[in-house]
Amino acid sequence: MIREPLIFEISDKGKKACSLPKLDVPQDENILKNIHARKEIKGFPEVSEVEIVRHFHRISRTNYSVDEGFYPLGSCTMKYNPKINEKIAALHAFQSAHPYAPQDLVQGNLEILKKTEDLLIEIAGMDAFTFQPSAGAQGELVGMMIIRAYHEEQGAPRKIVLIPDSAHGTNPSSAHICGYHVQEIKSNRQGTVDPYYLFRTMTEDVAALMITNPNTLGIFEKEIKKIAKIVHAKGGFIYMDGANMNALVGKSRPGDMDVDVIHLNLHKTFSTPHGGGGPGAGPVGVKKKLEPYLPLPIIERKNGKYRFNFDRPKSIGRVRSFYGNFLVVVKALAYLLSLGPEGLKEISETAVLNSNYIRKNLEGIYHLEYKTATLHECVFSDKYQKKYDVSNVDIAKRLIDFGVHPPTMSFPLVVHGALMIEPTETESKRDLDMFIEAMKNIAEEAKKNPKVLKTAPHDSYVRRLDETAAARHPVLRWSEEKDTKG
Ligand SMILES: Cc1ncc(COP(=O)(O)O)c(C=O)c1O
Repeated sequence: MIREPLIFEISDKGKKACSLPKLDVPQDENILKNIHARKEIKGFPEVSEVEIVRHFHRISRTNYSVDEGFYPLGSCTMKYNPKINEKIAALHAFQSAHPYAPQDLVQGNLEILKKTEDLLIEIAGMDAFTFQPSAGAQGELVGMMIIRAYHEEQGAPRKIVLIPDSAHGTNPSSAHICGYHVQEIKSNRQGTVDPYYLFRTMTEDVAALMITNPNTLGIFEKEIKKIAKIVHAKGGFIYMDGANMNALVGKSRPGDMDVDVIHLNLHKTFSTPHGGGGPGAGPVGVKKKLEPYLPLPIIERKNGKYRFNFDRPKSIGRVRSFYGNFLVVVKALAYLLSLGPEGLKEISETAVLNSNYIRKNLEGIYHLEYKTATLHECVFSDKYQKKYDVSNVDIAKRLIDFGVHPPTMSFPLVVHGALMIEPTETESKRDLDMFIEAMKNIAEEAKKNPKVLKTAPHDSYVRRLDETAAARHPVLRWSEEKDTKG
C-alpha cells in the first residue's frame, strides 16, 4: 500500500486552496501573523483545494469503523446504531435549540429529557436520573460525589470504596478522584465477588461497593442481593457500573437488585456510537434516599409545564454546562420508542446469544480462564498459543488481516493474555461465523506457521509498530529539519 504523505510533504510554495476577492482596504500583512500564526510551526503547507480534499479523503479511508465490519472490542459495545436515530437528532429544531433559550420556548426539548428519564427509571428500576454527565467515567464520579455528600451529611464521608478486581478500570480512578481509598476485592474462582469475603472486609469506614454488573468477565454477579445486604448493614451503598446494560436491558433491573446508584452509558447501549471521541452521556440514576443530592438542575413538570429546578440545597451542584449532551438523549429516546419493551428484551437476549455462540465455538481452541456462564462478552486467553510463542497481541494483529477489528486485549487484568470479545446484539450469524473461522485459522497458524502471526498485520495501511518506541518517543509534529534530514 502506498504511504500517504503528510500534508506538509505535498506543499508547494504559492499554492492556495481558495481565491479571495481583491482587497478594497489597505493590506496589513502582520494582522494574522502576529496574532494567530503559531510560531513553533515553520512552513505551513501550501496546497490546492483538490489536494486537500484528496489527502483527507484518502486518510479517512484508512479508518476502520462499525459501518465497515465486525468490531468485537470487549467492554466497548461497538454495535451498529440505526441511522434513523442520527437523522432524528440532526433535525434542525433540535440542532439549533439554543441552550440559553427561555424555558417556555423549549418545552418540547424539556419534555424529551423528562420522557427519557422516565423510561430509564422504568428500565433500571431507579427513582430518578440526571443526564448531566457526558461519559460513563464522569457518571461514576458524579455517583461517588452523591454518595460522599450523603455520608458527609451523616457526619463523615467515610474513607474506603471497595472495588472487585473484575471491575471496569475507570471505577477505581473515579473513587480515587472523589477522595476515597480504593480497596480491591479479589474475585473467587467463579470470577465473581465472594459474599463471605466481602462480609469479613465490610466495615463502617466503607462508603460504597462499586460493582460492574455483569462484570468485565461478562459474568453476572448472581449474589448481588446478598452483597447489597452485607454492604447496607454497615451503612454503605451499592454503586453499580451499568455500562454493560445491553446484557440486562428489558430482562432485569438493577434497582430490583438493591442497587442504590447506577450509571448507564447511552453511548454504548442506547444508540450513540462509542469511540471516536464523539459526545456521549453517562446518566446517573439513584434511589429516593439519594435524590436530593443529584446535580443541578433537575427537570420537573408542574402545572402542565416543564421547568428546571435549581432550588435544591443538598445538591452536589453543577457538573456540566447546561443539561449534558442533549442530542445524545434525543437519539436514546428515538431508539427506546422505536424498540418498545419487546425490542429492548431482544437486545439483551441477542447480545447474550451472540457472545455464547462465539464462546461455545472457540472453547477448547482458545483457553477460557473462567468456566462460569457468561452474558454479553467472553474472555479467552492466549495460554494455548503461548507454547508456540504466540501472544494475544499476535492474534489480535493477525485478525486485522482477516478484516476484523481486534478484541480488547490484556484486560481484564484478572486474565493473563486476555482476549475480551464482545460481539454485541447487532451482528448476524454470518459475521459471527466469519469471525469464528478467522479465529480458528489463526489458532492453526499458531501451530504450523507462527511467523505469519508474529509479523502481522500484512495487508494494513500501517504494518506492526514498535509500540514501546511509539509510546516512549512519540513524533507528534512534523518538522522541516527532520524531514530534510530524512
Ligand atoms: C463497563 C464500563 N464502565 C465504564 C466505562 C467508561 O465509560 P466512558 O468511556 O464513557 O467514560 C466503560 C467504557 O467502555 C465501560 O465499558
